[in-house]
Amino acid sequence: MIPSRQHTQIGSLSLCSPIMPASGTFDPLSSLPPFDLEQLGAVVLKSITLHPQWGNAPPRLAETPSGLVNSIGIPNRGLTHFVTEVLPRYTQRWSHLVVSVAGYSPEEYGLLTKTLSRNPAVIAIELNLSCPNLSYHVIPAHDPVLLKESIHAARETTAKPLWAKLALGVPSLGKMATVAETAGADACTVINTISAMAIDQSTGTPLLGGGTGGLSGPAIKPIALAAVFEVAQHSTLPIIGVGGIMTLQDILDFLYAGASAVQIGTASFYDPLTMAHLIQDLESYLGSVQCTVADLVGRTQKRPQTGPVERT
Ligand SMILES: Cc1cc2nc3c(=O)[nH]c(=O)nc-3n(C[C@H](O)[C@H](O)[C@H](O)COP(=O)(O)O)c2cc1C
Repeated sequence: MIPSRQHTQIGSLSLCSPIMPASGTFDPLSSLPPFDLEQLGAVVLKSITLHPQWGNAPPRLAETPSGLVNSIGIPNRGLTHFVTEVLPRYTQRWSHLVVSVAGYSPEEYGLLTKTLSRNPAVIAIELNLSCPNLSYHVIPAHDPVLLKESIHAARETTAKPLWAKLALGVPSLGKMATVAETAGADACTVINTISAMAIDQSTGTPLLGGGTGGLSGPAIKPIALAAVFEVAQHSTLPIIGVGGIMTLQDILDFLYAGASAVQIGTASFYDPLTMAHLIQDLESYLGSVQCTVADLVGRTQKRPQTGPVERT
């Protein structure tokens, strides 16, 4: 078999394409999938929690000129309902699922991972350690000790690949990636949304029910790109790049910066066929330059430091 140019490797996992949905932004069961999802590297599902929760007060979404601010807060009916009622509807149709879990303690990450990893269609578990919209005392990805303990607790319960989804807002994202690596993560997903807000001028109050929310979309792409580049310089973990990806050029930028795969979020709200188009665009590009995804990963190196320009 001739290996496809789009194949990519995330640790022990071989994916047919580097392109996949970002958690919480694409639910193929909520409407008819507009394309064949087997083309995707994986189908990444919305985060779930151990116990049922309502999510944040509405309104939950505000449009900005270059993206979205959301304060959804992971409404869901909890692990037991997910495993008995929801997951089977996905596994009937797809066998390359990545489930995303958000815990309120290391123990919860362990319990969620243990239960979900029993399902053979679950090829990896993404640990959402970075949601800005939950009532955490501290976001796990912001505290090296909590980050380590949360990943470690999950690692102890499963041999399945664990992807640690990290967050900005720390002095060194590179250092947090090395913490994730030491704790047993197999890859890191970089980045989640960035804390942001919108104001309703008619009332002077925050537009979102949760007060603040998380910014996504094209506005965050250069920030996410820098984050991927930083992690690639500090850690040997495979990186899944996410943040503002809309076009083929964006994907190439992320691969060059060091990502081995990418997730598409807000772009699917603009056009649900975005991922299908991007898979085609990437295939045409790789054919035209006769290379594979692996050839492009990490091509960008730091510019050599030049000395101060001598003035005459
Ligand atoms: C409406 C919405 C819901 C989201 N829900 C989740 C979620 O459940 N779990 C998670 O890890 N990230 C969630 N995210 C963050 C995305 O997965 C992604 O990290 C972020 O949106 C940046 O990518 P983008 O700019 O391509 O959208 C959500 C984002 C949006 C816009």
